[in-house]
Amino acid sequence: MTNIVVFICSFFLTFTLTGCTELNQQLGSLQINQQADTPTNMEPNNQLRPAVKKPIIEIKTSEQHKDKTTSIHTSILAPAKVNNPVQNKKSSNAQKDAIQVVAKPESIPVLVNKKNKLPDAYKPRDLIYTTIPFIFKGKSEKREMRNEAATAISNLFAGAKKQGVNLLGVSAYRSHAIQTTLFNAYVKKDGYAKARTYSALPGTSEHETGLAIDVTGGNGKCSAEDCFGGTKEAKWLQAHVAEYGFIIRYPKGKDLITGYKYEPWHLRYVGKVIAKEIMSSGSTLEEYYNTIPVSK
Ligand code: DAL
Ligand code: ZN
Repeated sequence: MTNIVVFICSFFLTFTLTGCTELNQQLGSLQINQQADTPTNMEPNNQLRPAVKKPIIEIKTSEQHKDKTTSIHTSILAPAKVNNPVQNKKSSNAQKDAIQVVAKPESIPVLVNKKNKLPDAYKPRDLIYTTIPFIFKGKSEKREMRNEAATAISNLFAGAKKQGVNLLGVSAYRSHAIQTTLFNAYVKKDGYAKARTYSALPGTSEHETGLAIDVTGGNGKCSAEDCFGGTKEAKWLQAHVAEYGFIIRYPKGKDLITGYKYEPWHLRYVGKVIAKEIMSSGSTLEEYYNTIPVSK
């Protein structure tokens, strides 16, 4: 009798424990699945979340561009696979050549460079004519900028004038078509490789965002030329553009990061907070976003 009681008790004990273990496993896998379902790439935030400083951008490799069928959202800082050296070499080359399409082209601090292009047919919606004087007469889209940037450049010109520095606009907004004509002309003049050191491929020029402007001194000399560097106007710009929300976008010695040689005349509107951080630290928009230098 005692044996029968012991046997029945053992049977129930074993059954209960097994059932609990399975339940725990199910709960465990449920928890794991819930973790896997948690989105790791939240809303693309590269343009508006400086604290994160990891641009999350729609990636299209040049191959993908050809057939335009595939695109993925990912962080450009996503690690490469490490298990196959041959594959890795190919994929790191592909990564190097990849041009990503920016997710929020209308964002004021948008990063546009040799690795981050504007969507095809992008045209800013709030372009207006600036009120500043230019080196040329007559109507032209090159006088236009986005609303906020147009106000900021007027304030900058007025502030400069008050301090005895006269400036002229050279070229602000450029449509894709104008940038194409310009780039092709430079290629014809200097060859493709040299042109790439100072002129942006269509789709990758900040001028197409309506947030950039080339300026020069009031005498119109040295317009977009190296001799502008070191002038009274260039010095004033270096010291004061951030107060108006602009940065010198292609600083001296940062070619490997920005992809372009020094352009003391190319101002880019990013807003006062970011401009002050970048200009006071002597850095670049690429460094601000902690993104990969364009040469890598
Ligand atoms: N000169 C600058 C890089 C442009 O073409 O946009
Ligand atoms: Zn420029």
